[in-house]
Amino acid sequence: MARPVILVVDDDSGVRESFRLILEDHYEVIDVPDGPQALDVLRASQVDLVLLDIRLPEMDGIEVLERIKAIDEGLEVILVTAVKTVRTAVAAMKLGAFDYLTKPFEEDELLALCRRALEKRSLEREVTFLRGELARARDFEEIVGTHPAMQKLFRLIGQVARTTATVLVTGESGTGKELIARAIHRQGPRRDKPFVPVNPAAVAETLIESELFGHEKGAFTGAYQRKLGKLELAQGGSLFLDEIGMLKAELQAKLLRVLQEREIERVGGTRAIKIDVRVIAATNVDLKQAVARGAFREDLYYRLNVVPIEVPPLRERIEDLPLLVEHFVRQYGQQFGKRVQGLSPEALTALSEYRWPGNVRELQNVVERCVVLADGPLIGLNDLPLDVLLPDHRLLVRKADRLPLKDATEAFEHQIVLQVLERVKGNQSEAARILGVHRNSLKRLLERWGSE
Ligand SMILES: Nc1ncnc2c1ncn2[C@@H]1O[C@H](COP(=O)(O)OP(=O)(O)OP(=O)(O)O)[C@@H](O)[C@H]1O
Ligand SMILES: [Mg+2]
Repeated sequence: MARPVILVVDDDSGVRESFRLILEDHYEVIDVPDGPQALDVLRASQVDLVLLDIRLPEMDGIEVLERIKAIDEGLEVILVTAVKTVRTAVAAMKLGAFDYLTKPFEEDELLALCRRALEKRSLEREVTFLRGELARARDFEEIVGTHPAMQKLFRLIGQVARTTATVLVTGESGTGKELIARAIHRQGPRRDKPFVPVNPAAVAETLIESELFGHEKGAFTGAYQRKLGKLELAQGGSLFLDEIGMLKAELQAKLLRVLQEREIERVGGTRAIKIDVRVIAATNVDLKQAVARGAFREDLYYRLNVVPIEVPPLRERIEDLPLLVEHFVRQYGQQFGKRVQGLSPEALTALSEYRWPGNVRELQNVVERCVVLADGPLIGLNDLPLDVLLPDHRLLVRKADRLPLKDATEAFEHQIVLQVLERVKGNQSEAARILGVHRNSLKRLLERWGSE
């Protein structure tokens, strides 16, 4: 792992030298004699902690402190003072200094202080993430499945988790790619470090580069503060690159460089920053095809596809559906404070016959809706949404679209009614409930069509 960088600011070269001697075994040390030079260093390079002499020529320590905080609010500063200036130091704490150290100091005292300040910084970075992650985490993290394909997948996750190899997770939308990426992170030695997801498709194109690599203050219009990129925020942990197929050519090249050299440069920065990050990428488009089309770099594809993990669509492991339903019923029952036991056998059968183009996510949404609307302990056939019960209703529209609208509507209506009736084995009151019409209206329609 990259060592933390400490910037020492003191006009006395003897003092700078003694700091360096003490700190060098544990940290990277940069030292400068005055405020303006300190600010130059901060603008150009990555620094994790500043040791700042309070009495400096040119610009005094307090002013330097204020300027440092303007560049990077989260950067910790320890003030170094002579006994006489302790009062000033205490006042400076109000301006956001982490602590102060009075000269002369003990070696252990200095090291302990630095350790605490650096811990706070890394904790803060993690807390920012955890906040975002927590909402998603809870018990959403469990991967449900007993199908042999899933069992194989679980074994593979366990194996790759122990390595740092780059992983490419492929699968249709909603199959659980992100869940699997998280599992790989959680089961590996980096579990206590951040898992940082980034989705280039969800970020404005002009901002993706800064999102990934970060930027320096003033790097472009609107860059008021230094911002760390996702790659830097993932230090020591894992970066989840979602929908990697959407990445534009220019960024593909930049990402390739990161994977090869394991270092980045912030936008508007001048110094390379070492990156120790495990990359897990995901895609729901066929990258090989994209390579063949020239839309995705072949060299990047091979860099990413070190360990390929393919997640099968739900319809190919439909045996897992009842388990998944149970899992989601429990989850949403708790969340909405409802006592729902589960689905009736007919409802489960209907769900198993559906193709699930949106895979587990679609199933999850259907169950959520059912639980929210349930007015009894059991969810039945008539509680299921129509598009699950009548998956081919779009075909029906197409078949009918050559007729005048009135006839088309009626033909469509007719076929839907017939499909529902077939589903409920001719039970008219149940069909009427599903269709949301009165039983008598249904009867009248059937009489008109002569299909009773
Ligand atoms: N095997 C599973 N067990 C429990 N929950 C699952 C499972 N697979 C997926 N899910 C849930 O389904 C939802 C979709 O999963 P996820 O976001 O990981 O899919 P994805 O493949 O990344 O989808 P997309 O391609 O749309 O981004 C999530 O809420 C996830 O918790
Ligand atoms: Mg996803």
